[in-house]
Amino acid sequence: MTWKATRALVTGGTRGIGEQLVRELVQRCLRVTATGTSEASVREASARLPQVHWEVLDQGDADSRAAFAGRVARADFDLVIHNAGIQQLRDWTAPDAAVDFDTEREMQINFVGPVELTRLLLPQLARQKQAAIVFVTSGLALAPKKSSPVYCASKAALRSFAKSLRAQLQNEGLPVRVIEALPPIVDTDMTRGRGRGKISAQAAARQILTGIDAGRQEIDVGATRLLRLIQRISPALAGRIMIKR
Ligand SMILES: NC(=O)c1ccc[n+]([C@@H]2O[C@H](COP(=O)([O-])OP(=O)(O)OC[C@H]3O[C@@H](n4cnc5c(N)ncnc54)[C@H](OP(=O)(O)O)[C@@H]3O)[C@@H](O)[C@H]2O)c1
Repeated sequence: MTWKATRALVTGGTRGIGEQLVRELVQRCLRVTATGTSEASVREASARLPQVHWEVLDQGDADSRAAFAGRVARADFDLVIHNAGIQQLRDWTAPDAAVDFDTEREMQINFVGPVELTRLLLPQLARQKQAAIVFVTSGLALAPKKSSPVYCASKAALRSFAKSLRAQLQNEGLPVRVIEALPPIVDTDMTRGRGRGKISAQAAARQILTGIDAGRQEIDVGATRLLRLIQRISPALAGRIMIKR
């Protein structure tokens, strides 16, 4: 382990991969702040994990992001894990089949949210001796599937942002590492009732934290390692395998 964080923020810590990240970080004795979208979800999570400081945040909403950043301005985070996200499935050839679909909302939550929160939190991260920002994207950021076009695009956009941000911070000599974690399909509410070969949220969280400890810039979780290998050998084959899903 090259560096030990002490004060972490995990967005979307109430369920799924985020909750498991929070549990693992608490076990490592970090001071953890975590977020959920409503008083109710935060209250429930707080009953399970009372040692965590819980905050309400809708990262798809600019006012909520600004208010949240104000409340945590003195938290002195040295690890920020942008984990929260949503996924909407939509068949674009049948637009009436999904009237609830909201492109702007999905991009706000999955892309604009973590980007703007990074802007708001960067000054406190840059004050630390060492710090890290982790973006939880997806194997789908490497190659999209057909069933959720906007989700895949939002994760590819976040991946691209992370690369440029990393270069800017390195260029300025700031002590903030930028890390991308790319999970495969994970058994959470997001994937309930669909998909095969899922890994547990706990396994995903542990691999992400092991990757951070190992000093990785990009953490390929589970089957994303295989996808990356196939992509190196044949980008076209990797694309064909993923797009079918
Ligand atoms: N599951 C997978 O197969 C998979 C694969 C690759 C990548 N990922 C990525 O991993 C991350 C976690 O996914 P998951 O499967 O653990 O999700 P999940 O079980 O559906 O949990 C989503 C979390 O995000 C929070 N959230 C939802 N909308 C939000 C908003 N507008 N603002 C702030 N927080 C919000 C939720 O809070 P509430 O409880 O309050 O709703 C919840 O804590 C996501 O970025 C996802 O894209 C997941």
